Amino acid sequence: MVGASVPMVDSSMYSHAGGQLDRLCRAVGFDPEERRHLDLLRLLLGESGELTVDAPAQFPCNVADDTTPVEFSVAFDANGECVVRVLGETVGASDPREFLAQVAGEYGLVTDRLDAVADLFLPHDERRGPFTLWYSLIFRNGAAPRIKVYLNPQISGPTMADSLVSEGFRRLNLGEAFDPVVKHALRRGERDNFTFFALDLDDDPLSRVKVYVSHDAAEAEDAVRAGQLVPGADPMLIREFLAVLGGGKGPFEGRPLVSSYSFVEGMGGTPGNYSLYLPIRSYVPDDEVARARVHAILAQYDFDPEQLDKALAAVSERPLRDGVGLIAHVSLRMGEFGSGITVYLSSEAYAVAPPRKRPVLGRMT
Ligand code: TRP
Repeated sequence: MVGASVPMVDSSMYSHAGGQLDRLCRAVGFDPEERRHLDLLRLLLGESGELTVDAPAQFPCNVADDTTPVEFSVAFDANGECVVRVLGETVGASDPREFLAQVAGEYGLVTDRLDAVADLFLPHDERRGPFTLWYSLIFRNGAAPRIKVYLNPQISGPTMADSLVSEGFRRLNLGEAFDPVVKHALRRGERDNFTFFALDLDDDPLSRVKVYVSHDAAEAEDAVRAGQLVPGADPMLIREFLAVLGGGKGPFEGRPLVSSYSFVEGMGGTPGNYSLYLPIRSYVPDDEVARARVHAILAQYDFDPEQLDKALAAVSERPLRDGVGLIAHVSLRMGEFGSGITVYLSSEAYAVAPPRKRPVLGRMT
């Protein structure tokens, strides 16, 4: 635990990440009077937020490559809206659910569904895998922030993952959802794995349950097949997304592609949305190349690429070609709950990954 003697320092994680988040919200046009994003970030980081970013992290965390416990994202929605989110872990807290207890009342969170699956995904005995509980803080202009939780299907080891997800669905009245997901997204044995089981916590009949599958060394056609479970996930758009951002048809042998499906109760187990995540940082030499590719895909869907540049400037001042991973992932969302492109931005609070060499064009002789 962090003691009370930790001094407030300007280079604290909270001031670093809070500055980034605040600039990001303003950059996409949110009300500058709004403070709730900072209040929530401060609570999420807790005491560890007071630690300096100038010394190595005290707590291991897989939210981001450099162990920063938060990652930002900007979701461009086909309805014209821009949503800012923070994915984060309450590192150093003795009970990861404490943050929820602190904010549930004020933000009207409903934890029934989390409670229904807590014994599966938050077991009291030994925990394994890269995390226990992550949060997503979701900010829209002029609206109350929303909160989502991510649970880890690998928490009791890889052999238990499928049965945890299957039982989780059953308890949330989505028992029919499991088999079709396995059939479409877990076709390649050990190379396809459940990685997250996520729940919206708002008091809304459209509150979603999302399940994520990572695909090691997958081809574009594996993503196409995964997408086919969702009416409206267009195979051409999936192929184009991977070609433009990932540079081809695969196999994507760096960090894995990830699929996710969104469900709401009462839909008979058919997901309403499919999302495909490309960890673009594994497939580009540096962030200048990543930015150019994201510009191309944004233009394709008539989103304003300038918004991306403003978002990048809000998070980092470093020259884009001096590192790789500021743009960590890009995702394509398709379906009846809303379509769009989401760009994930690293805080790089602790470290910037060095760029790789760009390919060199040989001279014709
Ligand atoms: N850093 C982890 C990874 O890259 C977890 C993660 C953070 C992630 N944001 C994500 C995974 C977005 C998929 C999509 O795997």
